[in-house]
Amino acid sequence: MPNQASVLVSRAIFPEILERLSQHFQVESNQDDVLWTPEEMRARLQGKQGVFTTGGERIDAALLAACPELRICANMAVGYNNFDLQAMTAAGVLGTNAPDVLTETTADFGFALLMATARRVTESEHYLRAGRWTRWSYDMFIGAEIHGTTLGIIGMGRIGQGIARRGALGFGMKVVYHNRSRLDAATEAQCHASYLSKEDLLASADHVVLVVPYSPAAHHTIGAAELALMKPTATLINIARGGIVDDAALAQALAQGRIAAAGLDVFEGEPKVHPDLLTVPNVVLTPHIASATEGTRRAMANLAVDNLVGFLVHGKPLTPLNAAVLGQAAP
Ligand code: 8YV
Repeated sequence: MPNQASVLVSRAIFPEILERLSQHFQVESNQDDVLWTPEEMRARLQGKQGVFTTGGERIDAALLAACPELRICANMAVGYNNFDLQAMTAAGVLGTNAPDVLTETTADFGFALLMATARRVTESEHYLRAGRWTRWSYDMFIGAEIHGTTLGIIGMGRIGQGIARRGALGFGMKVVYHNRSRLDAATEAQCHASYLSKEDLLASADHVVLVVPYSPAAHHTIGAAELALMKPTATLINIARGGIVDDAALAQALAQGRIAAAGLDVFEGEPKVHPDLLTVPNVVLTPHIASATEGTRRAMANLAVDNLVGFLVHGKPLTPLNAAVLGQAAP
C-alpha cells in the first residue's frame, strides 16, 4: 500500500499483534527475540516512523538524533523509564505507555507476593523439594499474620489503590499510604486508606508494598536508613522497578534479620540479581512477572498497537505521555 508507515517491533510478541500491525504498516519484527545492541536498534530504526517497545529498550537523545524519521515509540508497559521523555519531546517524538489494562492483574500479583513472602511459601517449598520434610512441628515455617495487620503502600497510583482495596476489603487490613501528593478524600475513602509520611509508614506497617514509578528522584527510596525504620517483623515487597530499593542494603538487612522477609519482582540491573539476594532464604524472588497473565499481556500489546495506529494513521494516540508533541508532529 502506498504511503504506508514502517514500524519496528523490537522484541518477540504474540503473532496476532504482528498481524494487526501489518494491516496498517510495513512491519519489521524480531520473533527470534534477539536482544539488539543500541547500534543494531539504531540501524533497524532507519526509515521507520514507529517502534513497538516492551520496556527494556532505551530511547534517548543519541538514538533519536540518529533516527530522524521516527515519530512514535509505543511502550507495552505502564512504566516508561526506558524513555528519555524530555529528549523525545525535544525531538518531536511521541511516547505512549500502556496504563489501566494491567492495574488489577498487577495488584493481584502484588498481593500474591506479599502473601508468599509473609507465609514463607517458596522457602517452605524448597525445603520440601529438598526432601528435608520428615515430620510436622509446631514452629515449622511460622510466618507473619496478614489479615488484620497494617498494610503500608508507598506509591498510591492505580496499582497501589488496587492493592489497598484488596488489603482493606479482602483481608481486613488497616491501610496506610505515602505518595508524592495526597489523594482526595473520596479516593482515600474508596481505598480505605489514610495518608502517612514515609517515615511513619515505615515504622508502623507490618507489610510495606512499593508501587512508585522509577525516576532519578525515586532512586533508593528504600535504603539502609529506611530499612532501619521498619519493624523487625515486617515484610517489604517491591513490584515497582529495580533501583527503587537498594538491593545490597536489603540483602544485608535480610541476612541480619533487620526485617523478617522481602518479596521482589524487580531488581537493580535486572535480569541480573544481586548475588547476596540469592543466598538469603527469607526472600521470594520472581522474574518481573507482575503483569504476566495471558489476557493482560495481550491487552497491553494491543494498546501499544492502538497507539501506533491511532497516531500514525489517524493522528490520535490513546495514551500519550508527551502530548505537547502532538501539536508539533507532521500530519
Ligand atoms: C512489563 C511493567 O511487563 O508495565 C510495566 O511497567 O513493569 C511490566 O508490566 C514490563 O515493563 C515489560 O518490560
